[in-house]
Amino acid sequence: MATFPPKVGYPDFQVSVAKHRSCVIYDYLCHKKHSESIMTQKFVFATNNAHKLEEVKAILGDKIEVLSLKEIGCNTDIPETADTLEGNALQKAEFIYNQYGVNCFADDTGLEVEALGGAPGVYSARYAGGAGHDSEANMQKLLRELAGKENRSAQFRTAFALIIDGRKQLFEGIVKGRIIDRKQGNEGFGYDPLFVPEGYTQTFAELGADVKNQISHRAIATRKLCEYLNSL
Ligand code: IMP
Repeated sequence: MATFPPKVGYPDFQVSVAKHRSCVIYDYLCHKKHSESIMTQKFVFATNNAHKLEEVKAILGDKIEVLSLKEIGCNTDIPETADTLEGNALQKAEFIYNQYGVNCFADDTGLEVEALGGAPGVYSARYAGGAGHDSEANMQKLLRELAGKENRSAQFRTAFALIIDGRKQLFEGIVKGRIIDRKQGNEGFGYDPLFVPEGYTQTFAELGADVKNQISHRAIATRKLCEYLNSL
């Protein structure tokens, strides 16, 4: 059987073929290493919200490994004291990057209601007061504030802050819709039972995760994040 390079004369040729081969192997290994590093990018998502974690994981797919705060042993209630969604997202991502030295991203989402001048916005979690995240109380307050108002236009807006090797990047996702006058549906979380996205007749809580993951504010912001990571 013929060997390659041929074992006849032409030592220079053999050396150059051997060099060429090692270059090809080197290139291959570099490429493999590069694609492996893309395949196995690991990020911490600075959230304790299991719903959000699942939504984002479902969109990012297998190529990007997402760790929760719990998985890195972070039990701190990360401060969110900025007065914008972008400010809060950056504050959370910076906290994780500075404390744990890992590439990470964080989000902050708000429901912005036109007739309420953009409220509850950055204060969506604490709209009804108290420690926050009392979805039932928040929804009841929203219904009270909108009682008798014709304009029910609203949007969910998500800001994502990514920190990768110290570099910071922001992404935004918006889904427009309207607030109905009573809760409908049991899926999702937060204000989902009151929000009907544009082009639909059911709330996020009725449409369920499959539809929400295609069209939501977080889905849009996550896809932008994903495109950015894939372009690196
Ligand atoms: P967070 O600070 O980004 O978790 O969001 C603030 C508040 O906005 C949450 O407490 C929820 O009430 C609400 N929120 C965020 N994302 C969604 C969503 O996808 N659907 C409904 N409500 C949401």
